[in-house]
Amino acid sequence: MSTVLYRKYRPQKFSQVIGQVHVVQTLINALKENMVSHGYLFFGPRGSGKTSIARLLAKSLNCLNLKLSEPCGSCENCCEIQENRSVDLVEIDAASNRGIDDIRALKEDIKFAPFKSNYKIFVIDEVHQLTKDAFNALLKTLEEPPSHTIFILATTDIEKVPATILSRVQRFDFKKITIKDIKFSLKEIIKKEGVQASEEVLGIIALNASGSLRDAQSMLNQVISFSGKTIKESDVESVLGLVSSVMVSRFIELLIKKDLKNSLIFLTDLENNGHDVENLLKSTIEYLRKMLIIKVDFDLVSLFKEEFSDEEKKIILGQTSIVDAIFLKKLMDNFLIAQNQMKYSDFPKIPLELAVIECLM
Ligand SMILES: Nc1ncnc2c1ncn2[C@@H]1O[C@H](COP(=O)(O)OP(=O)(O)OP(=O)(O)O)[C@@H](O)[C@H]1O
Ligand SMILES: [Mg+2]
Ligand SMILES: [Zn+2]
Repeated sequence: MSTVLYRKYRPQKFSQVIGQVHVVQTLINALKENMVSHGYLFFGPRGSGKTSIARLLAKSLNCLNLKLSEPCGSCENCCEIQENRSVDLVEIDAASNRGIDDIRALKEDIKFAPFKSNYKIFVIDEVHQLTKDAFNALLKTLEEPPSHTIFILATTDIEKVPATILSRVQRFDFKKITIKDIKFSLKEIIKKEGVQASEEVLGIIALNASGSLRDAQSMLNQVISFSGKTIKESDVESVLGLVSSVMVSRFIELLIKKDLKNSLIFLTDLENNGHDVENLLKSTIEYLRKMLIIKVDFDLVSLFKEEFSDEEKKIILGQTSIVDAIFLKKLMDNFLIAQNQMKYSDFPKIPLELAVIECLM
């Protein structure tokens, strides 16, 4: 693979965006009605499509053959944006250009009309990193933007963006990509790449991507580099140090049977086989949380319908029915403490072993 997957599969049309339906729909309507705003703020988790949609909007605004709000992808302006060489799309990373001088330079740039398109679009990534002075300078520009300019600010941390800025822009809240959508996207990619991988493999990756499609695609990339055209479940576990749901379920089984001896053997085997104990603990805590919720009412299993296959659903329901809520809570309490202690320990396994002994002895 010459290009990394997440770059290769960056959406080039609105119809290729996964999730973020509310954002895409509103932008498409604005383009249709010629009601595009002069300032946008894209807020949301990492790898959820902020930069991708900012570029798509820029492309649509400057496309020479716009069709139903979709950029054509082949005119001069579209090509330049796709190849990162459009002078009318200025992308600034506020993490490394945080100061007043950077914003002053930007203001000088704004004075010039677009070089050859309708709009000059400024994307300021990680905008929360700007200094106070830089924000003030930016505010003046947002108050009276020249008619040919459009600002798209992007951030993962809205708390750090001053209210004065927020009130000048139209805000879009991006959502984490759901596990189901991540799996769907990975499935499309492996089909195009001619790679074989089971549902379980894609499920492990999707679950561990924590809502970031970029992270999911990078993980897939890493595993493909290792395994080639056929990915086995054990490859995902060894390359990424991830723990499959089967392993977590096995560990839980031992815990709820209060089988201390085999629980400790399980942990030692796990480590000896090169798995990451921290990952196991994280997944176990997530699993226990689900059990606790299901314990409240078995119908609540429907909250996790995207994460479990029918088979897994049956297993977790069975496990939850034979364990009492107080013991579940005890496990959860001790595991959360262990997770915290692990961060400061040279021996990550020990806090987990202690927690297991505390709960099962
Ligand atoms: N909603 C999405 N639809 C389709 N692909 C996506 C989406 N979100 C992320 N991706 C994939 O992940 C890659 C990174 O996405 P993008 O750069 O748009 O994320 P971001 O929200 O700007 O993240 P960051 O906060 O880290 O800058 C894209 O190139 C694409 O492959
Ligand atoms: Mg981005
Ligand atoms: Zn075009």
